[in-house]
Amino acid sequence: MICFQILEQAYTDFAAAAPMPAATETLLAGWAIIHPPAGMQIIRNVTMRATAQAQPNIALIKYWGKRDAGRNLPAVSSLSLTLDSLWTRMTVEFDPALPTDRLELNGEAASGLLPRISRCLDLVAGTNRARAAVTSECNFPIAAGLASSASAFAALVVAASDAAKISADTLTLARLAGAVSGSAARSLYPGIVLLSAGDREILVETISEDWPLELVVAVTDESSKAVSSSDAMLRSAGTSPFYVAWVEQQEQDIATALSAVSSRDFSALAAVAEHNCLKMHSLLWTSRPPVVYWNQATMACMQTVRDLQADRVPVFFTIDAGPQLKAVCLAESSNAVAAALEATPGVRRILQSGLGAGARRISPR
Ligand code: DP6
Repeated sequence: MICFQILEQAYTDFAAAAPMPAATETLLAGWAIIHPPAGMQIIRNVTMRATAQAQPNIALIKYWGKRDAGRNLPAVSSLSLTLDSLWTRMTVEFDPALPTDRLELNGEAASGLLPRISRCLDLVAGTNRARAAVTSECNFPIAAGLASSASAFAALVVAASDAAKISADTLTLARLAGAVSGSAARSLYPGIVLLSAGDREILVETISEDWPLELVVAVTDESSKAVSSSDAMLRSAGTSPFYVAWVEQQEQDIATALSAVSSRDFSALAAVAEHNCLKMHSLLWTSRPPVVYWNQATMACMQTVRDLQADRVPVFFTIDAGPQLKAVCLAESSNAVAAALEATPGVRRILQSGLGAGARRISPR
């Protein structure tokens, strides 16, 4: 280390005495090789470690179906809310001494999830990268229809690119995250987010950050789902008689939702979001074999939302690939919605969140 410091100091003195074009730097497996223009090479150990945080996002107009399964490109556009109080934090440390990638999730080794993590690291840092130790912390149930993979891969692309000292813009990172988990692309962005399926590549953008919508999640079962959303989507596309109509109608649902957001028309947004959610679950119910993510408590929560609506409370529901019901409401009614859902039979706990920021680095470089 002292040796590196002496070399660095020598280079600094040399550069000050004889100004010259900036040095270039090559990063190789944890070492920075600095190539000054004339005759010297300085090798400095650099930390290839970074931490990032991302929040899950909940789709109001759902991504369901793949146009290109190999590249994981969505068949349809989608619209989502990036949350605030639920989070995943990912630390990535590239370490040339490691023989293989390692993953620790909430303090425990999690080798089952490692292949997707490794694939994501390859996409960001290349297949010749050093192996990585990845540690993940998550403050909500994993793989239970709460978009934990969205926040995980969004945080991972930010942490991995930062650790590998690769600078990439948000859309590039969103596309990399989306190549591993389609919904993860949206968690790179804050607020209300539109993902356009496009002809070749996805486009992702925030369309509003100043409508203070709130989300109340009624958790009805914290166990991992039996059928992953990836598998269920492929099954729906291959077997549901309604799949073609789903794809055909999606742009209309997106247009209706965008217009509701721009005019802050809560009831128009509620109507199209519930319709879109129920269409997605109709695809699942009519797949062969069918996939039913709901349980009795999910149904009871839907009735609670209907009762609140009958009492003129501005609220609507959406449900993803799991049995949790997500109620979207205006800030002033979130406590009433939370109380009603908490009192619904079968609800285990309530999570509440406003809208939040996109994935970001949280450790100093
Ligand atoms: C129901 O993003 O988990 O939450 O791309 O196969 O990883 P893969 O799927 P994933 O699917 C999310 C499906 C959904 C709807 C949505 O978030 O839009």
